[in-house]
Order: sequence, then structure tokens, then C-alpha cells
Amino acid sequence: KNSDASIMLEAHELLKKFYHHLLLNTKEGQPALDYLTDRGFTREIIEKFEIGYSLDSWDFATKFLQKRGFRLELMERAGLLIKKENAGTFFDRFRNRIMFPIWDHQGKTIAFSGRVLDKSQEPKYLNSPESIIFNKSKTLYNFHQARLHIRKHQQVVLFEGFADVIASDKADVPYSIGTMGTSLTDEHVKIIRRNVESVIICYDSDQAGLNAALRASDMLTEAGCYVKIARMPDGMDPDDYINKFGKDKFKNDVIGASLTIMAFKMQYLRRGKNLQNEGERIRYIEEVVREISSLEKAVERDHYLRQLASEFSISLDALKQQQLQYYKAER
Ligand code: UTP
Ligand code: MN
Ligand code: MN
Ligand code: MN
Ligand code: MN
Repeated sequence: KNSDASIMLEAHELLKKFYHHLLLNTKEGQPALDYLTDRGFTREIIEKFEIGYSLDSWDFATKFLQKRGFRLELMERAGLLIKKENAGTFFDRFRNRIMFPIWDHQGKTIAFSGRVLDKSQEPKYLNSPESIIFNKSKTLYNFHQARLHIRKHQQVVLFEGFADVIASDKADVPYSIGTMGTSLTDEHVKIIRRNVESVIICYDSDQAGLNAALRASDMLTEAGCYVKIARMPDGMDPDDYINKFGKDKFKNDVIGASLTIMAFKMQYLRRGKNLQNEGERIRYIEEVVREISSLEKAVERDHYLRQLASEFSISLDALKQQQLQYYKAER
């Protein structure tokens, strides 16, 4: 007498293997395999990340599971099938998609994310809904494979996309994990902090990724992590970057050159400002001082105030006075 959870896990395990087989060994899977190959996914990577393909069919998984004696109601609760309300029949949730298994932190498959092959379809990634075996806010993609590397290197790099984690792993950065989108939760933060202090956030270089990186860096800093943020040219994500510039440039110019939060914010506040112009320069300095005043550690505040004083030849006293005003106003 198996529990519902263990039956759901078994179904995921079997389907994962079958999706993987369909991708690698069948004519139906060939377009998906070609797509992945074009994107730089090697056979080795496809094996390591157990990537698969779900057929363009309404009932392939339904029949596959039924034949093996799984209760379809339970499979619907596991997120693999969808129930047609009035007819009471079931159909496949994932159709004609590249299948990324999502593992728990022990490596058991608990969910899937299916990517479309063709740009015109929505959503780009279809995820399993939450279930008794899949709690999205506690799941970090690739954590089970990255954990030992994270411990050994005392470093973790955090990405927002599956493809980014996979590309980074391929670029010899095996301490790479993902949040499956841009929302980092308190549970994620706790899990990260329990394993490592030093975190590099490497989100997409677009507005959403930038906002999310600042939010994530605040949460991680508050939990006691040392956080850096990696930068890439505007509009690129880590996977794009690695495919375009290669792994050495990624390791040196992105991961190796990641910035402290303050340096990152300073670079951000500089964008679109002409610092030769007196008014804009003063506004920039004020904005930076305001950021400095929000830092928890006195040592850090002192460090950045001195940096600012020397860069713009302003007296440290004046900056300190200004910072104290903001500091008092905030607390
Ligand atoms: P992105 O839109 O940045 O996708 O979403 P990506 O990872 O670069 O994907 P590729 O390179 O086009 O294949 C980042 C992450 O957000 C989640 C996925 O986890 C994705 O990897 N996401 C995105 C969804 O869950 N659903 C979506 O429709 C889109
Ligand atoms: Mn290692
Ligand atoms: Mn994105
Ligand atoms: Mn992206
Ligand atoms: Mn991408």
C-alpha cells in the first residue's frame, strides 16, 4: 500500500524516462532534438539534465499511465493530466514540448516544465502546478547536482532560467541553481543560506531581471549572505552570453567581474546621466548617498562615502552630514 506521494513520484520517474527516450531515439522527437542542438545543447547535457520531449498528442501520457495501472484522478492531482470537467475524462497537460524535469533536492523528479518549440505559442514554459510533491517556493532548479560544488567552492550562482543554469554548468560553473522565474522566496533564501554565504545573482539583463536582482539581493543580504550581482550587455541573458562569447569570457567578464550591490547600484544610477553636468552630478551624488545610508554596516557606509568623496573631490564631512540626514529620516 503505497502513499499517494510515492505513486506520484513513480509516475514522474517513468514519464521522465519515456520523454527522454522520445527525444533521443524517435522520429517524432527529431525536431525537438534539432532545436536543442541548434541552441548548443550537447548529448551529454541532454543526458545530465534528463531532458525529454512530449508528443504532439492529447492522450499519450494518459494512455501511458493508464496502461501501467496509475489512477488518473491521482495523476491529475500530480499535474500530469487535466480533467475535462463535464465529460469526466482526462487529457495530457504537456503536449509537443521540450520537457525539463524538475527535481527535489534529493534528485527525485517532482514536476516538469515544458518549453514550446515554436515562438508563437504561449506560455513559453508550461509548469506543473503545485501538488503534494511539488512546492515551487521551496524548489531550486538543479540544487541536487550543484550542492556538493556549492559546498566545496563556497559559492553559488543564482539564475532565473533553466537554460541559463544548464549553459552555466556547461561552462564549468557547476555551482549553478535556478529560481524558475524571477521570484525568490523566503524559503529559497533559507535553503541557500544554510549551504553557503557567498551568492552571485546572474539574472537576465532586462528590466524584469534587474528589478528581481535588486529584490533578491536585499533578501539574501538580510539573511546574512554576501551578495554580488553579475552584469551582461543590455538585453542578454546568461545562456545568450555563453553561446555568443564562450565560457572563458563568461567566467572572467561576467561571474568574475560581478559587482557588490552598491557598486551595481552606482553603475545603475549613472545610466543616462551626464556627470560632467553639475546639476546631474549633484543629483547622482545625492542618490548614491541615499543608497549608502540604507546599508546596515557602518564599515560599508564609511567605505563607500570615502570612495565617493575621492571620486568627486567632495569633503568627507559634507557627505557624512548628508548621509546622517537620510539615515535619521529612514529609521
Ligand atoms: P525567460 O523568459 O528569461 O526564459 O524566463 P529563458 O529562461 O531565457 O528561456 P529560453 O532561453 O527562451 O528558453 C526565465 C524563467 O522563467 C520561467 C522559466 O523558469 C524560465 O526559465 N518562465 C518563463 C515560466 O515559468 N513560464 C514562462 O512562460 C516563461
Ligand atoms: Mn567542483
Ligand atoms: Mn527573463
Ligand atoms: Mn532569459
Ligand atoms: Mn534564454
